This record gives sequence, structure tokens and C-alpha cells, in this order.
Amino acid sequence: MAVVDSVVDAVGGTPLVRLRTFGAHTESNILAKLEYMNPGGSVKDRVAFQIITDAEESGALVPGGTIIEATSGNTGMGLALAAAIRGYKTIFVMPDKMSEEKIRSLRAFGAKVVITPTNVEPEDPRSYYCVAKKLVEDTPNSFYANQYHNPSNPKAHYTSTGPEIWEQCEGNIDVFVSAAGTGGTISGVGKFLKEKNPNIRIVAADPVGSLYYDYFHSGKLTEAHSYLVEGFGEDFLPSTMSFEYIDDVIRVTDRECFDGARKLVRREGIYAGGSSGGAAVACEKIAERSERPLRIVTIMCDSASRYLSKVFNDNWMRENGFLEGPESNAIVADLLSRRGHVEVVTAAPERSIREVIGMMKDIGISQIPVIVGERIKGIVGERDLLQRLVGGDTPDSAIGEGSAKFAIVDPITRLSMLPEFFGRDQTVLVMNDGRLIGVITKIDYIDYVTST
Ligand SMILES: Cc1ncc(COP(=O)(O)O)c(C=O)c1O
Repeated sequence: MAVVDSVVDAVGGTPLVRLRTFGAHTESNILAKLEYMNPGGSVKDRVAFQIITDAEESGALVPGGTIIEATSGNTGMGLALAAAIRGYKTIFVMPDKMSEEKIRSLRAFGAKVVITPTNVEPEDPRSYYCVAKKLVEDTPNSFYANQYHNPSNPKAHYTSTGPEIWEQCEGNIDVFVSAAGTGGTISGVGKFLKEKNPNIRIVAADPVGSLYYDYFHSGKLTEAHSYLVEGFGEDFLPSTMSFEYIDDVIRVTDRECFDGARKLVRREGIYAGGSSGGAAVACEKIAERSERPLRIVTIMCDSASRYLSKVFNDNWMRENGFLEGPESNAIVADLLSRRGHVEVVTAAPERSIREVIGMMKDIGISQIPVIVGERIKGIVGERDLLQRLVGGDTPDSAIGEGSAKFAIVDPITRLSMLPEFFGRDQTVLVMNDGRLIGVITKIDYIDYVTST
């Protein structure tokens, strides 16, 4: 790269590196775009500079103004960097699970950082979205960067990350995988690549606890819960996430993300964080499932330096149970094949409560998935139906979509993920290629682990 005028012009143009250990046992190639090599240390530099440029052009951001953002850290770094050069003040609102390194880095740029509790609903006035909005109202000449609903976010990836990947691969790409948070990366790059070649598959990696996976596979907004990996997954649907460009969503556990990040650093020399670990693991799953060699491209979103006190700290890993013995490799498909053939019984929403209770009695089950076509609409359980009857419905009322909680997994999901769902009273539904192929209950799981 030749001499550039300011650090803003040094954003982008990041290397694309072939991974040597991830997917090495398959015929596929996994290529990692090192976005942590941007000046602010993450993929978000592109977004931050696009947001500021567009806001200056539209007049939303005026000289001497204050940029405010709810951020998990990386967008803040990009905004703080650009603000330093262009003379803006910055205030960032962050949830308290964020690493100390991220908070300190923002303060190093002279930013004000406001910390908010993680475990509150997005609508709660203490949530980081609400606190940021309030600050905008109360601060004169302020501009809310609003990465979750700002079209400049996916635009940055549509105009820079996507074209770079296309050129670096000379158009030879089968699958693009990205950890999805605001969805800016996957939607912007996805849109660009699909326009170039609609056969390229666009796959989002999603942490257990986020709602994207269930939403994509069932169309339902299930209850999100907290998880430890930072920077991706959401508990609401941002408008920057465009599912129209997404072909699949793959779920990854905290442990997979952290083990993945440690392997990236130690085995590949790629100094990336937990979401990059999750993306690399998702690529490997795709490679393992494929019957033909694939060229899979993914994003190394940010730097390991932001997680030295967590993912790369053995004490923290141990305290959180991530270093306890090797994780069992058993997967959902192992349980299904050990259990033998069990027919999946489903019901349409218009079936009556009487009919469905009859079905439950005949087959000896207590929960039935509600299906329209091949789509899962919900799940009805005995408790659910009883409450309906007590609440005034008649036995001839339609069951509707049911209100029991469920979680969708695929056959290659690790079995060690299931207790987390059972602990939340969710029934586990196994989907393969868009079809429901099994229901796993607590007893099935207990049977499996006690007999191995
Ligand atoms: C570490 C990390 N990984 C992944 C992402 C997800 O990127 P996007 O918001 O474009 O979906 C983010 C976003 O903030 C992030 O900070």
C-alpha cells in the first residue's frame, strides 16, 4: 500500500489467508479475511467510516458534533478513530459483559464510555439501546450512529468487503460465512456476492442464546438468553439484517467459539477473537457436511488482543467451565440412530384440542410440534392444552400454534449443547434440510448419556 493521507484511508484491503488446520481433514478450502488488520482492529472500521461519511454528507453530523453509539466495542473503536481525526466528540454505551480491554481502548481515544447491564430486555430503559437513545435526546449537536438500523452499515460491506472478496477470489467462491451481529457484514457482502453469482451460498454463524437460528429455521422469534461470546448474535431483529440474502444459519456454542479462537491463534497464527473462532468452526462444519470440495470464505472479525483477559486467559476459561476435559464428540445424529426409528408425529394448527389430546394418549407422548407445510409453527404440550381448557376454550377449539418452548438443532449439533435447552424447558426439534426428523426429550438424552 502506498502512502495514505490519514488512517481513515488505510481501512480495507485486508489479506485473505487459507486456513491450514480448519477443514484440513476435508477436501474443501477455508479462506479467512483478516479484518482485525484494519487500523481500529476490526471489521467495524469499514462501517464506522461509512456511517460518518454518509452523516457528514447528509448534514446529520455537524462540525464539533458528538457521535453517540450503542456498541459492543468494535464499532466504537472505528468511530473513535475517525472522530479523533475529524474533530468529533464520542460517547459509547456498552453492556457490562464486554471485556475490559475494549472499554479501555475506547477511553484511550478520549471517548466517554457508559456501561449498562447485559441481562435486561432491549425495551428496558436500562438496556444499552435505550440508554443510548436517551443520551442522544439530551446531548446538543449529537448524532446517533445507530449501527443496528443504519443502512450505511451493510452499504460499507456491499461497497468494500464484498468487492474485495470477489476480486481476491477471482470470483471462485462457493460459500461465504460470517458471524452475524447487526447483520451488516453478512447482508452487505451477501447482497454483493449474490448479484455477482446467485449460486454462492451465504451462511450466518449464530451463538446459542441468540434468536437468529430459530427465527431463520421456524420464522418464530423465540426467547433469547445470554451467552459469553462477544460481538455477534442478537436478542432482537435489527433492520440491517437481511435474511433474503441468507441461505442458512449455523449455530455455534460459546465453547466452540473459544476453542476455535484459541486454535486460530495457536495453530494458524491468526490473532483473532471468539466470533472469528465461531465462524471458523461453522466453516469446518460446512466442509464436513459437503460431498464435494468447496471454497469457503469467512471473516476474522476482530483481534485476540481484545480478549486477553477472557478467551486467552486459562483462569477465566476454567472458571467458566471451558477447560474441563475434552468435550465429547457425540452429536444429535448418534442419539437418533441409537434410539432407532421413532415416527415424528405432528399436527396442523386447525386440529382440535380433543383430537390432539387423543393423539398424545394413543402414542404416549406429551408434546406435539405444530407444522404448516414443512414449517414449524410451534409446539403444543399437555400443560399448554390444559391451560387452554381451564382458560375457557372448548375441546373443539383449534390448537393454534402452541406456546410451549422449543429449540431447533441439526443432526450434527453436539449433544453437549442439549442440557442448556432442557434447562430452559425447551423441547429439542431436529431439522435436516428443512424437514423435521426428530424430537428429543430430556429422557432420550438421559437414556443416551447413561448408556454410553
Ligand atoms: C467481534 C465481532 N464479531 C462479529 C460481529 C458481527 O458483525 P455484523 O455486525 O456485521 O453482523 C461484530 C459486530 O459488532 C463483532 O464486534
